[in-house]
Amino acid sequence: MSPVTRHPSLIFLLGFMGSGKSTLGPVLAEAMDYDFVDTDELIERQSECTVAEIFTEKGEAIFRRYERDILRSLFRRKKMVIACGGGLPCFFDNMEQMNAHGITVYLQATPELLAQRLEDHKAEHRPLLQDKTGEELRLHIAQMLEQREQHYTKATIVVEALHASLPVLIKQLSSS
Ligand code: S3P
Repeated sequence: MSPVTRHPSLIFLLGFMGSGKSTLGPVLAEAMDYDFVDTDELIERQSECTVAEIFTEKGEAIFRRYERDILRSLFRRKKMVIACGGGLPCFFDNMEQMNAHGITVYLQATPELLAQRLEDHKAEHRPLLQDKTGEELRLHIAQMLEQREQHYTKATIVVEALHASLPVLIKQLSSS
């Protein structure tokens, strides 16, 4: 039986790049016997392009439309943990739609922690961070985060990313 007493059918994990959505998501899904999906992976599979290629060849606006469409297609699904790309909650009415269709969990982290985690793991699906390192990376993250927090903080549950673990998430979900 799932350790979460009440069963939100869809759980959306939100947060800046590097906040831990893709690490915690599969662990949470397994514990709850839910499916796990990552919106970036779904977009890459459906478009047969990497996120970086979409940004370079089609532009960010098209990528945001792909995100919105993928998100809408998941609303009819059940028992699923969805790791959302870092920018997804900040475009269109995605945040309101997610709150209407499930539970949203924001993994909140400081620019310092994120910069530290992202320094070596920017990888190719994060074109918004490419070429930035050190203090420049931290400042860039701080600026983006300042704009994005207004969307992220509409989440049902806010968890400190540094201390986010399976027991913490389960506890928060059970009492939400
Ligand atoms: C983005 C975050 C990335 C990916 C794309 C844009 C963003 O996902 O969707 O590079 O705007 O914050 P992760 O948060 O999974 O790294």
